[in-house]
Amino acid sequence: MMNEKPSTSPVAPAIEPSRRGFIAGAAAATAATASTLPVELFAQVAGSDEIKVGMIGCGGRNSGAIIQNLTANDGARLVAVADAFQDKLDGSAARGKGLPAIQAQLEKEGKSKQFDVPSSRQYAGFDAYKAVIDQCDLVCIATPPGFRPIHFEYAVQAGKHVFMEKPVCVDAKGFNQVIEAAKIADQKNLKVVVGLQRHYQNVYLEAFKQVHEAGAIGEIVSAQAWWNGTRPWIIPREAGWSEMEYQMRNWYHFNWLCGDHIAEQHVHNIDVINWFVSGDSAMGGNPVIAQGMGGRAGTEPRTVGEIFDHHYVEFRFGPEHNNVYMNSQCRHQKGTMSKVAEEIVGTEGILQLGSGRITDHKGNVKWQYRTERGKADPNPYQVEHDELYRHIRENKPINNAYYGAKSSFTSVFGRLATYSGKEIKWDDAVKSNFSIMPENFAMDAEAPVKPGPNGEYAIAIPGEWPLPWG
Ligand SMILES: NC(=O)c1ccc[n+]([C@@H]2O[C@H](COP(=O)([O-])OP(=O)(O)OC[C@H]3O[C@@H](n4cnc5c(N)ncnc54)[C@H](O)[C@@H]3O)[C@@H](O)[C@H]2O)c1
Repeated sequence: MMNEKPSTSPVAPAIEPSRRGFIAGAAAATAATASTLPVELFAQVAGSDEIKVGMIGCGGRNSGAIIQNLTANDGARLVAVADAFQDKLDGSAARGKGLPAIQAQLEKEGKSKQFDVPSSRQYAGFDAYKAVIDQCDLVCIATPPGFRPIHFEYAVQAGKHVFMEKPVCVDAKGFNQVIEAAKIADQKNLKVVVGLQRHYQNVYLEAFKQVHEAGAIGEIVSAQAWWNGTRPWIIPREAGWSEMEYQMRNWYHFNWLCGDHIAEQHVHNIDVINWFVSGDSAMGGNPVIAQGMGGRAGTEPRTVGEIFDHHYVEFRFGPEHNNVYMNSQCRHQKGTMSKVAEEIVGTEGILQLGSGRITDHKGNVKWQYRTERGKADPNPYQVEHDELYRHIRENKPINNAYYGAKSSFTSVFGRLATYSGKEIKWDDAVKSNFSIMPENFAMDAEAPVKPGPNGEYAIAIPGEWPLPWG
């Protein structure tokens, strides 16, 4: 495997024992596979803060998330890190990414003792995640989302607490895998937080109370979600790269890695609508029917990847949620309107989450979110880690994987609707268990999609693109 360090091993190397044996369950799980341990052994020892933290994916998001994680608990130490590429581990301190950047930031904040990652515990390659998970108590996962179900399942099987970024799946197999792993995480009393940070952001939490406790907008009748943003990065192809390496380095442009931008970014807004329409902050919800339109209309060369540059989807919730419609739009086209927001329309008012305001149908303001006088709101990216540790300490259940999976798969469901141009049903999509992941993971393995002889990738044609379940 290219870029793999000799130290990479699927078997956990011996490491020093935890100082006070922070977690009975996690430590026990490190020593044996989950299937051989009774569930009670995974119960947490509440009250201790000493945690060995692992990190999978050493890119932009995790280089920040790991600082937030370690900031949330002085007793946490980063002990092992994995990335598909050695150069990502080595990173660029100037660009704030990779291990040197993380170490420098911790030093700056007076937290040097929380960085404990000798080169023997830095792992590169597709299997590197195993060695990291095997020797930590809690793992922060921020790789391209195609890998999320595999990494989450392994972490849960090994009895580890998890912070994982959104989206958590790109296909039905991944969705089903995450839901099954979430159930096992509950049985093992593991704590799971997903990086859909609006759930940890005051304006959303207060607006939710307005809708579901104060009844400020009456009955919900429809909703709208937008992620109209900018064009994503492109890494030019280099001589000597395999097709697999090109796709891994340009993961945003390939569905098996990214899920298309409707999943990769717009999931945030879709998730808010699922949350507010279902009224269920723990389990979330999902629409049951979708139909939409989309394509690749902009100037992006087709040699770059296979994703659309715009999607517009009409999702419909079930009768238990008044058959509410969600209209969702996301776009990456230069020179077009930018908007990232959500809006919920009720019988007695409209909630605009972008501005944190509820108006009646004549435009009169009924409620306006305000921060506490003289104070800025806490950073939701920090709060999600604070909450993860609070739930560990207090031994209270927290498992965001259910709503994380439903919202991620709602975005995938939207992609299936825009690619096919058909009206589709949630249950058919879930039951199909379709997978778009490759069979083998190696830089010299066959990539699941390939460019044609002209170097261009095929882009779905609505009306012709076949649904995975026929
Ligand atoms: N919640 C948010 O607001 C937010 C913001 C940014 C990114 N994210 C999410 O974080 C995730 C990562 O995004 P990013 O911007 O950090 O991307 P990135 O490309 O900067 O980092 C991803 C890293 O994962 C590595 N990687 C790829 N496959 C791997 C594998 N199989 N095992 C180990 N490492 C692997 C890559 O080499 C790369 O270093 C995405 O899911 C993204 O949606 C969330």
